[in-house]
Amino acid sequence: MDFEKNISLRKLNTFGIDVKCKLYCKVKSVEEVISVINSEEYKNNSHLILSGGSNVLFLKDYEGLIIQNEIKGKEIIEEKSESTILRVGAGENWHQFVLWSIKNGLSGLENMALIPGNVGASPMQNIGAYGVEVKDFIVSVEGVNLDTKKSFILKNSDCNFEYRDSIFKHELKEKIIITHVNFELSKTPINNTKYGAIKEEIRSLGLPVSAESICKAVINIRTRKLPNPEVIGNIGSFFKNPVISTSDFLKTQKQFSEIVGYKVSETETKVAAGWLIDQCGWKGYRKGDAGVHKNQALVLVNHGNATGEEIISLSKEIQQSVKNKFEIDIHPEVNIIG
Ligand code: FAD
Ligand code: EPU
Repeated sequence: MDFEKNISLRKLNTFGIDVKCKLYCKVKSVEEVISVINSEEYKNNSHLILSGGSNVLFLKDYEGLIIQNEIKGKEIIEEKSESTILRVGAGENWHQFVLWSIKNGLSGLENMALIPGNVGASPMQNIGAYGVEVKDFIVSVEGVNLDTKKSFILKNSDCNFEYRDSIFKHELKEKIIITHVNFELSKTPINNTKYGAIKEEIRSLGLPVSAESICKAVINIRTRKLPNPEVIGNIGSFFKNPVISTSDFLKTQKQFSEIVGYKVSETETKVAAGWLIDQCGWKGYRKGDAGVHKNQALVLVNHGNATGEEIISLSKEIQQSVKNKFEIDIHPEVNIIG
């Protein structure tokens, strides 16, 4: 196993934070994972698993071992009459996998096209977009427990999936490496267009509703709305949309009639954090190289040389202003590596 020393992480995190790590290695198979966890480099250092780096914020140099997961492969493991079960390597690029699934007549993931990052990180925060969450298509998650060195398979119901949350962000945080994710995708088109903007976009493209046209519409909408990390450093939504009691939501709505919220259960409402932040006047704000995107207030950006500390300090000011104005707490979605 090759370990590199003192490498720059700037190109390995989409925020483009200019930090280094003490040790770095890539793993391309389960055997290589085992070989790393048996190494002196692993035993003598803290560790972090990194995939596409599109949901991490480094506050400083990482004084440990970064293990980048590059396990590839897509394999059909079961054909059913209505669906196909696939086993996909954690290191496969998410968007390429979505395109591949559509090309192979499998439906379900098209609403989540163009989400950056890799397959192995998708269960971490139960990625979601345009009315769909990945938990609806995950059968199970495979990995290696880094303490016991044993392989495990966790079925969907044991992953504690919630909105932008799972067991991997809590009980299993830093204790495992996800090596494969098993998905069940539909052989008949699902055609989920309940997110209004998709329908409008497909209509304006003049296309019939299909997995392909939904994918195209999502790509178009996302390209218009979200900044490209290749152009300006960001990790997508910096905060989660807060879920509050519907009675609190209705109280706030009396004062702020335009507040944007979506009913998530009989008693709870999810509030658009982008709207809250926007109302506090942050959109387009810039202090040094840390800023808030000019079109989407939920996205914090690095204009070039912002440090992780500068981004986090801006995020705290934003949280406080939202709290002061609306009495609502907003929490980071990003994984902060301190
Ligand atoms: P990383 O950033 O490398 O890792 C994220 C976390 O998972 C870290 O804590 C890491 O330690 C852990 N991890 C990663 N891989 C493994 C593994 N194999 N085993 C164990 N732990 C692991 N997210 C959404 O949900 N919906 C969106 O619409 C969306 N849009 C985005 C748009 C932009 C422009 C950007 C930059 C980001 C967006 N995101 C979105 C966030 C991000 O793309 C997702 O969270 C994605 O799943 C992160 O994947 P990654 O491979 O980059 O993970
Ligand atoms: N809004 C404003 N001002 C802003 C930003 C948003 O008023 O500056 C309003 C919009 O007008 C809209 C509402 O807020 O009425 C929601 O905005 P949008 O549709 O852009 O979605 P979002 O809630 O900001 C969420 C996800 C995204 C996902 C999109 C589409 C979270 C935290 N974010 O964003 O996920 O792509 O919906 O489904 O749930 C991510 O997780 O990184 C991410 C990008």
